[in-house]
Amino acid sequence: MTVSLELWVAGCSAVARVILKRPGAVVPCRSESLLTMPEESAPAPDESAKSAAPVASIAEIGRHEGQSVTLHGWLYNLRESGKLVFPIFRDGTGSIQGVAHVKSVTPEVFETLKHLTQESSVIVTGKVRADKRAPGGYELDVEDIKVVQRVPESDPYPITLKEHGVDFLQEQRHLWVRSPRQSAILRIRAEIMRAAAEYFDMNGFVRTDPPILTPAACEGTSTLFPVDYFGDPAYLTQSGQLYVEATALALGKVYSFGPTFRAEKSKTRRHLTEFWMVEPEVAFMDLDGLMELAENYISHIVGSVVKNRAAELQVIGRDVAKLEAVKAPFPRVRYDEAVELLNQAHKNGQLEQAFEYGNDFGSPDETWLSSQYDRPVMVHRYPADVKAFYMEPDPKDPRYALCVDVLAPEGYGEVIGGSQRVSSYELLSARIEQHKLPREAFEWYLDLRRYGSVPHAGFGMGIERMVSWICALDHVRETIPFPRTLNRMYP
Ligand code: 4AD
Ligand code: MG
Repeated sequence: MTVSLELWVAGCSAVARVILKRPGAVVPCRSESLLTMPEESAPAPDESAKSAAPVASIAEIGRHEGQSVTLHGWLYNLRESGKLVFPIFRDGTGSIQGVAHVKSVTPEVFETLKHLTQESSVIVTGKVRADKRAPGGYELDVEDIKVVQRVPESDPYPITLKEHGVDFLQEQRHLWVRSPRQSAILRIRAEIMRAAAEYFDMNGFVRTDPPILTPAACEGTSTLFPVDYFGDPAYLTQSGQLYVEATALALGKVYSFGPTFRAEKSKTRRHLTEFWMVEPEVAFMDLDGLMELAENYISHIVGSVVKNRAAELQVIGRDVAKLEAVKAPFPRVRYDEAVELLNQAHKNGQLEQAFEYGNDFGSPDETWLSSQYDRPVMVHRYPADVKAFYMEPDPKDPRYALCVDVLAPEGYGEVIGGSQRVSSYELLSARIEQHKLPREAFEWYLDLRRYGSVPHAGFGMGIERMVSWICALDHVRETIPFPRTLNRMYP
């Protein structure tokens, strides 16, 4: 223990010395140390040849071929064979194998490397060498190393490189996110979220954030998380929809993007109790317009991931050709046609359970349906009785709702649910009564039909369902940094 503390301090003072010589960004890291931000430009002209090598990130290390660079990172793994050590470093942007020969570095550096423990934090200097066999195309000939914190042998990093059970990994989620696969998934998630906002920002939508604490249900009273709001009941929001309907009538085209909550005691691989939803809402839009928006939206997001996260898709072994096929237009199938397909599949023995007309699709139904297409399929016009109170009935046959569910291919199921909204005051008022919703809590929502009501439509897209599909994951628990499920609130 004492040894590692000394190394910490020694490492830090060395860092501070290096930084004082360097121009450019200096940011305090925690309270103890100073670290420079990785910077990809060439070293400043006044930097002498002997001073610190420029700080580089592993993802961009190719720009420094033949030069010495400094990496800020952690030891991922170490191999040694006699006079050679092969430490693999990771820095959050990628990983790279280092090489040090007993004669190429000082005895101290060689000993430090040889006894370095998994996930110790380090500042490494080395020369970048192209190597076709290396996974990222480069290796690092190590010249120097400073250990920032050495993980002691007496309390080693709990996640070794052997296989661990999912329960154990979930319990260690705060550390598990460091693994190459989990890091790649989180980077893809971030790209999905970036592209999800970008599409709307580029197309004239205004982001308006609805409240998270709400007085009433949006998606059904049985799945609300209650909160004590100064003695009155309140709930965590299930969807921002009702509020973005209000802002859409103020601003025309809007969207919201934030956490939403569902309290049903579901254990399926698609269910989280806390998840992120993006919800566009557009005044004067009908169901056809909404379906067009949904297919263009999904095509944009998938296209952005393919373009900007190729390396991460490779790390997780995703079949990219399947994602490249995801281009608008998407097939449109009426609920009634989908039911016929399901009945046929049941007759052929492809589906165990017979589908009962009038129900919402169950997980196996969605899985089967969505694996029939090479791109998302849009199922529209469900029976009004199985859908939410706010959905506009089809004027051609009011037994059906003007709604759409978008089912992702490869069996991933629903990623988007949306509809045209009831625009008549009388009908909405009657629906609120039929659904036994507390009218006082919905007076403001009824105002939207009292004052300048227009046809309008919107949808909600679950970010984690998108991550699950785009990354081809078995379970949504790997799609979010810290999943909240029926059985898990830790870490
Ligand atoms: O279909 P949902 O329940 O629709 C609504 O909440 C509407 N108010 C949205 C709107 O029209 N503005 O949820 C929308 C999407 C689903 O298609 C799914 O992708 C995701 O949210 N979702 C979940 N994701 C993870 N875990 C859960 N428990 C989810 N429930 C819904
Ligand atoms: Mg739905």
